[in-house]
Amino acid sequence: MLSGLKRLEYRGYDSAGVALVTPAGDLETAKKAGKLSALTDELAANPLPNAQTGIGHTRWATHGGPTDLNAHPHLADGGKLALIHNGIIENFAQLKRDLTADGVEFQSETDTEVAAAQLAKNFQSTGDLTQAMRVTATQLEGAFTLLAVHADAPGQVVAARRNSPLVIGLGEGENFLGSDVAAFIDYTRTAVEIGQDQVVTITPDSVVITDNDGNEVDGVEYQVDWDAAAAEKGGFPSFMDKEIHDQPQAVADTLLGRLDIDGKLTLDEMHIDETVLKTIDKIIVIACGTAAYAGQVAKYAIEHWCRVPVEVELAHEFRYRDPVVNEKTLVVAISQSGETMDTTMAVRHARQQGAKVIAICNTFGSTIPRESDAALYTHAGPEIAVASTKAFLSQVVACYLLGLYLAQLRGNKFRDEITTILEELQTIPEKVQSILDNGKQQVQALAQRNQDVGSVLFLGRHVGFPVAMEGALKLKELAYIHAEGFAAGELKHGPIALIDDGQLVIIVVPSKRGRDSLHAKVISNIQEVRARGANTVVIAEEGDEEVREFASEVIYVPQTTTLMAPLLTTVPLQIFAMELATAKGLDVDQPRNLAKSVTVE
Ligand code: F6R
Repeated sequence: MLSGLKRLEYRGYDSAGVALVTPAGDLETAKKAGKLSALTDELAANPLPNAQTGIGHTRWATHGGPTDLNAHPHLADGGKLALIHNGIIENFAQLKRDLTADGVEFQSETDTEVAAAQLAKNFQSTGDLTQAMRVTATQLEGAFTLLAVHADAPGQVVAARRNSPLVIGLGEGENFLGSDVAAFIDYTRTAVEIGQDQVVTITPDSVVITDNDGNEVDGVEYQVDWDAAAAEKGGFPSFMDKEIHDQPQAVADTLLGRLDIDGKLTLDEMHIDETVLKTIDKIIVIACGTAAYAGQVAKYAIEHWCRVPVEVELAHEFRYRDPVVNEKTLVVAISQSGETMDTTMAVRHARQQGAKVIAICNTFGSTIPRESDAALYTHAGPEIAVASTKAFLSQVVACYLLGLYLAQLRGNKFRDEITTILEELQTIPEKVQSILDNGKQQVQALAQRNQDVGSVLFLGRHVGFPVAMEGALKLKELAYIHAEGFAAGELKHGPIALIDDGQLVIIVVPSKRGRDSLHAKVISNIQEVRARGANTVVIAEEGDEEVREFASEVIYVPQTTTLMAPLLTTVPLQIFAMELATAKGLDVDQPRNLAKSVTVE
């Protein structure tokens, strides 16, 4: 169970705990604030007895700080029932008042303990843990995955889910439940999806899924297409480092099988009627964080190729804005995990308004692709480091494939160019590899020299603008340094006041071969900040000698077209953030306050 939790630790890592039911019918728990290693140490010092049934949890705090007491599992029924929970129970205050009136005493500040007490109450009245879980699921409001064991039901784990991930792993003489398949990938690659508002009971040799009324339902079984080795560091010092190096493969795999020998694009998974795709008059991309920046990059390409307006909206803003969405809107939901609650809710809202939704996702069988009309998977393999890297590149690639597919379908003037664009796209893996082989050391040295900077500004224009924002986000989340990404042209409208002697400014310079005017404008922007004392570091394409004069350092990336450039220029920025955080002695895989998949709104 600890090794499963280790693989899931990226989802939350401020406390952890386990509960075991022994064959003798005793329930034993251990829980500890801090990373999983604190719990592992605790269990090494004070081992729990052998058991064949148990639940374990690694937490990202919502209600109540990260303390031993607030860590899961939470106990009820005089210590005979243990429960773990992901999500937020919105009516916990009312339930807590009612249970307190019944004489229940609570130990923690969590909503989870309330769910445990409610389940215990239902177990007392029904005498059956599965039935008690069904009743509890209908009484709770909000989002939850709940897993429970009871000393009086040895050999059973009972779970319920609403708006929060849960997947079954089928083994031989053993079965598993996990927030994602990484939890049990060491033991089985056969997984079963669990639908919304369903309850599942597993024993070593049975799996029963029902709806909340007790009607049995069939889960959808699938094979996980990666193995435990893909979720290991593979000799790299961190998952992030490994995932940065996975990027050539991630891009190649995302392209794989989608181009036929004539260079034509086929997207078999596009289960949306072609006539609908031909008549859409607007595309809205919904996503959060890095995925939203991938969408912003894609906007430039899709509008250019398809001549359809593209809006990119943060999923959590979209839903509450009363956006103009109808049957002629194509919504593209980008999510690595497929479980981001903000994006899930935005998908539901879009579909309610009649829009067709395509998910661009890296996690097979997750909620967002399941709730969309079609899914275009990025085949980046598991992304474990909290900061997104290979997912970003493969999201941009998948969006480009979608844009080219729509252009091909809609028969506009770019149709003839599609083959050339696809050919360029296929050169990206080796170009990313060349940055990793030839540029990493330079960026590492740059990061080490700058480990004491207090603030970094990132500038870019056109597709370089979202790249600048992504570079700033990486630095903020990994190195805890104030960083901002600006559209280079916007600087003179205010932010230039920030420039002072020695201010580090990193500028993404577009290709001179692409649009000369764009290149010239960025050169002017570099001069503007340099004139005010900035220390300018430039990311430019090989052969661009002009930039040297204005930069204290130039990081060169291979030549490509303007629209493909983000797939290269982002890479040094990822390395910069990782190396700077490493130089500061920080944990790049698990930065403070964060969790990998944000399953709360
Ligand atoms: C940043 C990062 C986050 C995620 C965002 C969306 O490095 O990882 O900003 O990109 O939380 O997550 P997904 O793509 O799983 O929906």
